[in-house]
Amino acid sequence: MIPAAGLGTRFLPATKELPKELLPVLDRPVIQWAVEEAVASGADEIILVLAEGKEALAAHLRPDLPLERLLEERGKTAELEAVRKAGNLCRVTVARQAAPRGLGDAVLCAAAAVGDRTFLCMLPDDLSLAQTPVLRQLWNAHEQLGTSILALMRVPNDQISRYGCAEIAESRGKLHRVSGLVEKPPAAEARSDLAVMGRYVLTPAIFGALRKTQPGALGEIQLTDAIGSMLEGGDVWGVEFEGELLDVGTPAGWLATNMRLAREHPEFRNAVASAGTAGRS
Ligand code: UTP
Repeated sequence: MIPAAGLGTRFLPATKELPKELLPVLDRPVIQWAVEEAVASGADEIILVLAEGKEALAAHLRPDLPLERLLEERGKTAELEAVRKAGNLCRVTVARQAAPRGLGDAVLCAAAAVGDRTFLCMLPDDLSLAQTPVLRQLWNAHEQLGTSILALMRVPNDQISRYGCAEIAESRGKLHRVSGLVEKPPAAEARSDLAVMGRYVLTPAIFGALRKTQPGALGEIQLTDAIGSMLEGGDVWGVEFEGELLDVGTPAGWLATNMRLAREHPEFRNAVASAGTAGRS
């Protein structure tokens, strides 16, 4: 499940008309990076939670036969292949969120589409840069433990106040049983240096928990609050994943991620290396 019904206010005015998930990172939009990670992690269906006006996200993931025909006629083989790939990554189901009532509400909007299945949930605001995709690492942990799983990342103490922070009851190597979640704690009050990132394995129990969760500030239903109510049963673990998550959910993060990936990309490396020197003699 990919909740993508948010307003994308941090990217305004770029996102006045264009959904932030369609902003490109190198040669493809953010949503495609997310779906490719999910597919590489074993997902065979994507449930996209969308708001009105964001239908182009689903369209990007579906075949575009007239465009394919045109590219074929013009002999644009590489472009044809790229377009076919984007439109055939996997089955896409759309769920609607009527108003931006928070991430928890967005997840709840997909309840009927998910049914009684344990599912992977990913926020497309971060790209996975890892040998084994971060989502796959979460699924592996789920197969071992059978519980809901959170993605945990160690951060320096002076940065923990930017994240949700996990309190840990028990550890087995990189796996940690979570006993508390505190949203953006002041550094001095943080119970650990483990930040909760936007990748999850959730059991269907999350939907009952979300239905009982009261809206918080701004009338938004927080996913963290619902997960918090599931902790008592010992049913939520976290995995300190290997690799990195690269931010594409803020203009600065998006720019830095593009630069970083471009420097490592055979086609774009030279363009980035010479950026800023063009026109100078
Ligand atoms: P964010 O808090 O990053 O909000 O949502 P946003 O709208 O995407 O971006 P900003 O903060 O306004 O710039 C985290 C995730 O939850 C989804 C978003 O699409 C994003 O994937 N979300 C958030 C929803 O689907 N619905 C909501 O009501 C809120």
